[in-house]
Amino acid sequence: MRLSSFSLWFLAFIIGSVSARFSDFESFKNTFNLQEHLGSLSIYHEPHFTGLSSAFPESCEIRQVHVLQRHGSRNPASDDGGSSAKSLVQMQEKLTNGSLPINYTKPDNPFQFIKSWVPVIELRNADKLSSSGRVELFKLGREVFTRYNMLFDADVYEINTAAQGRVVESAEWYSYGMFGNEIANKTKFVYLAEDETPGANSLSNYNSCPVYSDNNIDYKQVEEAHSIWENIFLVPIRNRLNPYFSNYNLTNDDVRSFFYLCAYELTLKDESGFCSLFTPSEIINFEYDYDLEFSLWGGPSSKWANVLGGPYIHNLAKSLRSVYNESNYQKTFFAFTHDGQILPIEAALGFFPDITPEHPLPLTYNPYTYSLKTSSFVPFAGNLITELFQCQDQKYYVRHLVNQQVFPLTDCGYGPSNSSDGMCELSAYLNSPVRSNSTYNGTDTFNAACQANPTNVTIVNLLSGK
Ligand SMILES: *[C@@H]1O[C@H](CO)[C@@H](O)[C@H](O)[C@H]1NC(C)=O
Ligand SMILES: *[C@@H]1O[C@H](CO)[C@@H](O)[C@H](O)[C@H]1NC(C)=O
Ligand SMILES: *[C@@H]1O[C@H](CO)[C@@H](O)[C@H](O)[C@H]1NC(C)=O
Ligand SMILES: *[C@@H]1O[C@H](CO)[C@@H](O)[C@H](O)[C@H]1NC(C)=O
Ligand SMILES: *[C@@H]1O[C@H](CO)[C@@H](O)[C@H](O)[C@H]1NC(C)=O
Ligand SMILES: *[C@@H]1O[C@H](CO)[C@@H](O)[C@H](O)[C@H]1NC(C)=O
Ligand SMILES: *[C@@H]1O[C@H](CO)[C@@H](O)[C@H](O)[C@H]1NC(C)=O
Ligand SMILES: *[C@@H]1O[C@H](CO)[C@@H](O)[C@H](O)[C@H]1NC(C)=O
Ligand SMILES: *[C@@H]1O[C@H](CO)[C@@H](O)[C@H](O)[C@H]1NC(C)=O
Repeated sequence: MRLSSFSLWFLAFIIGSVSARFSDFESFKNTFNLQEHLGSLSIYHEPHFTGLSSAFPESCEIRQVHVLQRHGSRNPASDDGGSSAKSLVQMQEKLTNGSLPINYTKPDNPFQFIKSWVPVIELRNADKLSSSGRVELFKLGREVFTRYNMLFDADVYEINTAAQGRVVESAEWYSYGMFGNEIANKTKFVYLAEDETPGANSLSNYNSCPVYSDNNIDYKQVEEAHSIWENIFLVPIRNRLNPYFSNYNLTNDDVRSFFYLCAYELTLKDESGFCSLFTPSEIINFEYDYDLEFSLWGGPSSKWANVLGGPYIHNLAKSLRSVYNESNYQKTFFAFTHDGQILPIEAALGFFPDITPEHPLPLTYNPYTYSLKTSSFVPFAGNLITELFQCQDQKYYVRHLVNQQVFPLTDCGYGPSNSSDGMCELSAYLNSPVRSNSTYNGTDTFNAACQANPTNVTIVNLLSGK
């Protein structure tokens, strides 16, 4: 099991922390980084896999790179239920106007900080990138340009982006990181609408798949998972925090708001008093709330993962095969999107074999050791990079990086080092039964299952190379 060393570390950590009554963010910051366990609201970080070096393998040359990139840290969204900007602004008002009555005379009240607290979430900023999000994307663009410099020999680079403000702005900061002042000359932006019109060539396939979106497929399961799990993990927190209020009973939604305020204040001002309200194990259970959601919502617990992830993988495979035409192949590919697009692709690539529609994550307890940690795969600015190498044996090899760490593929044999180095020989990668339906037929599968709009040929050529 690839997560075993991480699991041992993790168990040691859990055992060490159960007795902590409540932890000061500063005091556990050095051993447990809370910001890396906030699900898809986590800050960008490199995940813990098996610790393979991400350097280019010896005696191999990089031939092609594909970047699939989530937007950076942002403000709360306008349409995100309990974590929406509207709900959080209301919670800010309740805390400051006294309608959530904190009992400040209660000794050791962890809400003391509210006395001098200045709320930072504003409705007018809903959906926008935060300044830290801009920095994350700029830095990643710069790092990718430096690492793959030898592949940047074109005059102009196509930048495919889902046409939503924060995604487009992320693609722009990233491109600045790559090209600086030459951005206007070096880039051709392709904007893909976030609705049904782009069909299979979408960077938000949950929207461009009419059967999936019109029927709210997976939605009921996600709602049910949240409501079952929150009655398990939020109730003890509610009971622990309730005595610090006067004549008031906290609700599950109140406690959720405190978690979201913690996460969003971190993205907006790098620190938050709300984070000190929770113990590490409570944070880990909050993280699990996201893992349930993402595994069910087009992820590995959903029957739709292969459908939703298929078109990207099909295009990826076409581009990887094009490298056999030495004289004429595209070397760099960029696509900017959302967490909800990246996760189904990773599921369809076979990243989460321990979770299936038949064996979904349990709703009533946190199993701690499982592959799909949303925090690790799609934090803010999360990315999936596909590298294609040509090695000394003249064969081509594929490798995936998740947030710049090698993802240890295991279904298609060993790389040229003849050890589990995360490298897959190209035809073994394309033909592995884990993903061959997608590499050969992902687009048709999507079109048939989704009754999708016909593909816009102009965009197909841009996404899939020439
Ligand atoms: C406090 O703010 C909440 C949320 O906006 C509002 O519903 C409530 O009426 C306010 N209460 C007072 C006393 O102003
Ligand atoms: C962009 O291209 C134009 C036309 O080729 C050229 O005149 C200009 O100097 C270029 N600008 C930059 C910043 O490279
Ligand atoms: C506030 O806390 C103090 C100290 O524990 C307690 O004596 C008092 O009854 C509480 N007030 C209310 C309204 O709950
Ligand atoms: C809080 O809940 C308890 C138990 O259900 C109830 O007895 C009490 O009246 C409630 N207090 C308030 C202020 O709603
Ligand atoms: C390779 O690319 C050239 C130039 O576009 C094209 O004429 C040729 O048919 C391609 N060869 C293969 C095997 O696809
Ligand atoms: C790879 O390693 C195995 C044993 O681990 C060995 O039997 C095999 O011959 C090796 N293959 C090559 C090509 O070196
Ligand atoms: C691939 O598609 C075939 C035919 O639709 C299906 O029977 C098979 O289960 C699929 N394989 C995977 C791994 O999804
Ligand atoms: C590709 O998918 C379509 C739609 O599901 C199906 O009709 C077709 O048989 C599949 N082709 C192959 C080669 O599996
Ligand atoms: C196809 O894409 C082009 C370029 O983005 C756009 O102008 C055109 O309207 C699209 N056509 C359809 C049918 O969506």
